[in-house]
Order: sequence, then structure tokens, then C-alpha cells
Amino acid sequence: MTEARSGGVVLGVETSCDETAAAVVDSSAASGAHICSSVVSSQVDVHAAFGGVVPELASRAHLELLDVVVRRALEEAGLGFRAPQAPAIDAVAATVGPGLVGSLLVGVSEAKALALAWEVPFVGVNHLEGHLFAALLDHDDVAWPLLVLLVSGGHTMLVCMQGPGLYRLIGQTLDDAAGEAFDKVARFLGLGYPGGPAIERAAAAGDPGAFALPRAMLGEGLDLSFSGLKTAVVHAVRRNPDASNADVAASFQQAVVDVLVAKALRGARESGAAGVCLAGGVAANRPLRESLGAACEQLGLPLYLPSRAMCTDNAAMIAAAGWWQLTHRGPSRLDAGAEPNLRLPLIA
Ligand code: KG4
Ligand code: ZN
Repeated sequence: MTEARSGGVVLGVETSCDETAAAVVDSSAASGAHICSSVVSSQVDVHAAFGGVVPELASRAHLELLDVVVRRALEEAGLGFRAPQAPAIDAVAATVGPGLVGSLLVGVSEAKALALAWEVPFVGVNHLEGHLFAALLDHDDVAWPLLVLLVSGGHTMLVCMQGPGLYRLIGQTLDDAAGEAFDKVARFLGLGYPGGPAIERAAAAGDPGAFALPRAMLGEGLDLSFSGLKTAVVHAVRRNPDASNADVAASFQQAVVDVLVAKALRGARESGAAGVCLAGGVAANRPLRESLGAACEQLGLPLYLPSRAMCTDNAAMIAAAGWWQLTHRGPSRLDAGAEPNLRLPLIA
């Protein structure tokens, strides 16, 4: 019952924050994983009035949405089924952490119940490891080791990935995550939530050179810091009350992009990486993708970009990481709980 079938078709479930997501990924092909369906139901409308994610509302919304989202993911993958018959799924994977505990519990409970009913293994996946697998979904030919710049709402990490499951942390933010900085600055400018896409939209009409904002720790090491930049934006706006949101957003975005690109390139050089990869919600940012693309091209370093949909939270990356985990580390126990503070498993 807990043995993996030979197939590789996994139902993935993701509910760690404010996206309710389910996906079916087929990892059986030699050419790499195939996304059969990926359904993401955003809770933006639920949280927008509060300017950020309200944990209690998030878990309630997951409860209401998850059944429908799972059913749609199965149907779109051509795996519609009628109980008590089970769909042709080889395993069910769900994010167990890190994330909001109430939200995680909804997905973990549903995934375990489905695995039990369908008599297939349950796999509890680390959300951060899921993000690292996202780029691999679109590229089955990556050169190892990869320097992965993982930039999300809660994390900013430079990871030297020697292969699936082999992660060395070579740099990280000392304070705010890059996504958190986008969200806080957007909130300060009254641009709404989620902040990243709002800043990107506003910045498109602005001058990135309008304000001289700091690039913290640009010349030193592989760690990063964003809290000073956020404060500098606040001071710049107070000193220039007539400044346009577009100019402030563009200047802020440029400062973040400059630092991220410089750190990624230094990380690649220092770790001897054969390629560079972006992951996490901030990786959806077009100016970041373009700047890193231009810099990597100049250095002749291959850049593996996940599609924008695979950068932000989704369940396809959880299903892909889940199949790898099942076949290399084995299934998870059905009494496994949510782990809100889970860390990326690292090698020395
Ligand atoms: O990976 P993700 O969807 O969730 C977490 O695991 O945190 O990342 C969400 C973060 C948020 O801070 C959001 O503002 C940011 O990613 N983000 C962006 C963009 N799209 C999402 N930041 C900059 N530009 C974007 N286009
Ligand atoms: Zn995420």
C-alpha cells in the first residue's frame, strides 16, 4: 500500500500560504516531468482589503476551495473519477512546510486522506525544495552544479544545487526577504497586495534612476540585506512628497534587481556553477529575468528560467519534487504533521 507504483503520476497539493493549488505531474517519461494540469486559485480577493495575508482567513479559504481545485486538476489531467473508484494516480504529495500552520494542515490532511482512500503513498514535501524543482520542470537538460537564486515572500537564498536533494546554502538575506521588501514598499506606496506584481506594473512607467537608493552589501560576500532599502524608500518619499509612485517603484525595483543579479553572478563564480537558475515568486519579475539573462549571456553561463507561473506558488512543483522524494527517500508517514518552520535540508 505504501509502495510506489512504477508509474510516476503524482497529484500535488499546495496550501502553505494564500494560493490553493493542485496539479497532476507525470514524471515517468525519460525526457523529464510533464505537467498534465496545474490549477491555482488565488485568495487575493480574500486578503486584499487587509493589505496582506490573514492566516485565519487563509486556512478557511483553503478549506472551502481545496476539494474543487483538486477535482479540477484531476479532470484537466483527464483523470476524472467516480468514487469509490480511484483515479490513475501513483502518489499524493503535499507541502508540509514551511508556511502558515493552519493553511498547511488543510492541504496535508486532504492529501493524506486521498492517499489512504486511493491506496497510494503520501509524500510530505518541503515547499522550498518544491521551488528548487520548479525550474527543472521546464528544463530536463540542466548542467550541474546549478546556482539557484531562490527569492520568495519569506526566503532569499543563494543555493548551490549539485543535483536534486543536494543543496548547499552559500548566501542568504540577513533581514527581510526580497519578496517581503516588494510587499512592504508596495504597501507603503498604497499600491496594494500582492506587492511584487503591483511594483512591477507601476515601475513600467517610471524612471529607475529617479532616486539614488542603496545597494546594500553589493561588494561584500554572498549575503544580502533589504531592510535598509525599504527605509531609504520611506525617507526618499518623505523628502520628495510630489514624487510619482512610478519613479519610486522603478528606482526601488532597480536597486533590488541590481543586488540580486550581482549576488547570483558572484555565487555562480564562487561555487563553480555550470549554470544559473531562478526560483520563487520574485523570479516572476520581468526586469530581474531580463537583467540576469543579459548578465549570464555576457558570461556564457546558461540560465534556466522557470515559466512565470512556475515561479509563484503552485502544486506542479510540489508534485515533481514529491515523485523525486518518493523514489529517493521513500514515502512519508500518515501521522506526519505540518511543519511551519521547516528548513531546506542542506549538505555541508
Ligand atoms: O514563492 P511565492 O509565491 O510565495 C512564497 O513562498 O513566499 O512568493 C511570493 C512573493 C511575494 O512577496 C510577491 O510580492 C513576490 O513573490 N512576487 C513578485 C512578483 N510576483 C510575485 N515580486 C516581484 N515581481 C513580481 N512580478
Ligand atoms: Zn513559495
